Amino acid sequence: MLTNKKVTIYVTGGIAVYKAADLVRKFIKAGAEVKVAMTASAQEFVTPLTFQVLSKHEVYTDTFDEKDAQFVSHIHLADWTELAVVAPATANIIAKMANGIADDFVSTALLATTAPRLIVPAMNQHMLENPATVRNMGALKSYGYEIMEPDTGFLAEGYEGKGRMPEPEKIVEAAQLVVLNNAKELPLKGKKVLITAGGTKERIDPVRFITNDSSGKMGYSLAKAARDLGAEVTLVTATNLLPIPFGIEPISVQSSKEMETAVLDKFHNIDMVIMAAAVSDYRPKTQATVKIKKTNEDMNLVLEKTTDILAELGKRKTGQFLIGFAAETHEVERYAMDKLNRKNADMIVANDVSKEYAGFNKDTNEVIIYQVDKEPIQISVRSKDLIAEEILYAAIESMHDEMGTE
Ligand SMILES: Cc1cc2nc3c(=O)[nH]c(=O)nc-3n(C[C@H](O)[C@H](O)[C@H](O)COP(=O)(O)O)c2cc1C
Repeated sequence: MLTNKKVTIYVTGGIAVYKAADLVRKFIKAGAEVKVAMTASAQEFVTPLTFQVLSKHEVYTDTFDEKDAQFVSHIHLADWTELAVVAPATANIIAKMANGIADDFVSTALLATTAPRLIVPAMNQHMLENPATVRNMGALKSYGYEIMEPDTGFLAEGYEGKGRMPEPEKIVEAAQLVVLNNAKELPLKGKKVLITAGGTKERIDPVRFITNDSSGKMGYSLAKAARDLGAEVTLVTATNLLPIPFGIEPISVQSSKEMETAVLDKFHNIDMVIMAAAVSDYRPKTQATVKIKKTNEDMNLVLEKTTDILAELGKRKTGQFLIGFAAETHEVERYAMDKLNRKNADMIVANDVSKEYAGFNKDTNEVIIYQVDKEPIQISVRSKDLIAEEILYAAIESMHDEMGTE
């Protein structure tokens, strides 16, 4: 997302300037071309030379230091920029930006740029909570600027409080999201996609449950791929072992019943559902409220059927594109085609989980995509991230086909 993006980092005079050097490195590592502009106050903390070496570009500090007669440098930089990041952003620069003040290089270039702006405030908690700062940040939001929430923690003043600059990794993630939200021609832009992931847990008692081998990796890869194609993604997740990808709304569930409730609750307002979770087919008929004690006897556990969420969605669908997964160990095609028809799905992604490089808990997968009246699409073994992209490309093509025939 940030590959070859032209990013200008505007560094202003807060104690968090030391983190801005690492921020430049992280942006470059993410593929961006970075230029840096600094206020006079920022240069009291770190010299421009640090940023010049890291960015491999001269650092902009002085509005009237016009080295190239061909250009007015603050306008040239403002026009070059595809994403402007103000980090750390002092209370002072926030006030200036909110009021259109342009009295040094940084504030003048920021006023002149038309690129999306990501502001990363970092300051003492009392400065942050001052009504003037609150009002100024509100004004910036109303202009459409993205403002990151400062972290809470140990402040330079020697006490706990809110106002710390978030870690560079988080800023790069926020920047990726700003770029994504401003991208114009993404195929899933404006679409709402709901994805389920992980193996549900069916409680026997407060300390025991039945589950399966699903890690949730395929669902998480799909969530990231859908986000990167522009979708607004909700991830109903039955695992808490994977980090939630940035820019995605997570809904945490445990049982198939909780997953069913979460999915049905959102379904009416969704364009595409991908049921990548391994939902338990059965659950204990009764759940003990206290731990079941061991006895000398064998124990019988009576299981009852859970709701088939995919089939339920198939019955209720009113135009949503419905994708299910079939994890099989044999006769993959027969079961997948049967599932497609019986559950009124638009696509079934089948994988043979008996293969060593596919299915549960692996980082790779190999799948066949089945759709009604279409030739199966075979996707050979590759990372789950790449498989996710292929699945979504196939789904987007089919959605376009459907719209074309309406
Ligand atoms: C040691 C020190 C630390 C400072 N840290 C911050 C800070 O974290 N946030 C902030 O808004 N101002 C901070 N200031 C105050 C700003 O440097 C001051 O308001 C300055 O005018 C900001 O100028 P600029 O916005 O042009 O960079 C600090 C000042 C000093 C001396």
